[in-house]
Amino acid sequence: MADKLICGVDIGSSKIATVVGIDSPDHDELRIIGFNSTPSRGVKKGLVVDIDQVTTSIEESVEKAERMAGHKITHAFASVGGPHISSLNSHGVVAVSNPQGEITEDDVVRAVDAAKAISLSTTRQIIEISPRDYSVDGQSGIKNPVGMSGVRLEVDTHLITASTTNLKNIDRCLSDLGITNAGFIFSGLASAEAVLTDTEKDLGVVLVDIGGGKTDLCIYIDGSLSYSASIPIGAKHITNDIAVGLRVSLASAELIKIFLSKHLNANKLKNKTGDLPNLKELNITEDISDISVKNVIEEIANPRIEEIYKFIGEEIEKSDFAKNIPSGLVITGGGALTVGMVEAGRKIIGLPIRLGIPEKVSGLVDEIIDTQFSSTIGLIFYGKKHALSETKKNKDFNKIFKDFSINKSFSKFKDLFKQFLP
Ligand SMILES: Nc1ncnc2c1ncn2[C@@H]1O[C@H](COP(=O)(O)OP(=O)(O)OP(=O)(O)O)[C@@H](O)[C@H]1O
Ligand SMILES: [Mg+2]
Repeated sequence: MADKLICGVDIGSSKIATVVGIDSPDHDELRIIGFNSTPSRGVKKGLVVDIDQVTTSIEESVEKAERMAGHKITHAFASVGGPHISSLNSHGVVAVSNPQGEITEDDVVRAVDAAKAISLSTTRQIIEISPRDYSVDGQSGIKNPVGMSGVRLEVDTHLITASTTNLKNIDRCLSDLGITNAGFIFSGLASAEAVLTDTEKDLGVVLVDIGGGKTDLCIYIDGSLSYSASIPIGAKHITNDIAVGLRVSLASAELIKIFLSKHLNANKLKNKTGDLPNLKELNITEDISDISVKNVIEEIANPRIEEIYKFIGEEIEKSDFAKNIPSGLVITGGGALTVGMVEAGRKIIGLPIRLGIPEKVSGLVDEIIDTQFSSTIGLIFYGKKHALSETKKNKDFNKIFKDFSINKSFSKFKDLFKQFLP
């Protein structure tokens, strides 16, 4: 197998990030050879609101990433998120084509196709279909039915749907730049690919990507994606609150927020929590000499952080999986670095929380190993996993079986772990 180029364009509310990776038979890890992040224009809460502005931002980011990689980007996976995302779990049943023989890959593809037959308005489109569990002749809990004998094959799947208009808009932006869309990937799912461990997925975990304009959520139960949602609130709201509360510009508010987050998180790492940073170091134009750092954190940032967790908590309740997530929350996205975000989550949600940093890459890694690029890196992880084959049918099949080898190898580990859980 020759080296293969896999590209992703992450269309966020704060930044457009392009990544070019090489999937090489000589390396297990994906090697990043091109990367760029450019401020995003024309995207609000994950939605394209101005095609021309988005196209210009993507063009800028793609060109810089191409220059770094020394390769032209012709195909790319594109992230999609925002409140237009919704998810549902659906069931498919088929008769096994040869009841005397074994269940084949074809039977599985037909069962999954049957699960796709849901009534969907013309304004919505399925962007992800992820099998959770199979049953053969009523016996459930099967992760891979191929090779088993039976007459009736059933599948439980998780479907993610998105607004057709938004998908078409993203397609337009890419095709205007001569890029073929290799597939839409829900940005929350992309982040999950980049930061979750297989053990977490098997035990039950919630991935939370706190971006600029939205917060994506993916819940994994028994190793399978089981719930997805996108909440229209993100870390930009914290910046807005600081701007209003301190009567400073948005640019200054952003500087203050990042400065406090970096300084206080760094101090926490060194177990030096006592000294508060001095905002004078920022040299911003407005007079902020009287501002108390404690007030900015406690009176302005914290209420918004609490609101973000309130929405996250509501989604977890809505999913009905609140009691099945012993691994807790893995928070990522740029907003996860906001000062006090992890601590507030532990208090409000009452579950373990860790920061999800995308580390499983090599190459030009320094800049990209940052929570804000989890979904960016996840795009090419997803590409590596699911676009192995060129033919459409096989591509679908790879997608259907994406987690099975992992499930198998981790099932023993999971059972061992479950013995220690309440
Ligand atoms: N070190 C940091 N400390 C605090 N906040 C940060 C830090 N780095 C980035 N952010 C914040 O993260 C937000 C951007 O996050 P991210 O890049 O994940 O968003 P996005 O993917 O462009 O948007 P979305 O996913 O919502 O469409 C901004 O509000 C920014 O202020
Ligand atoms: Mg994002």
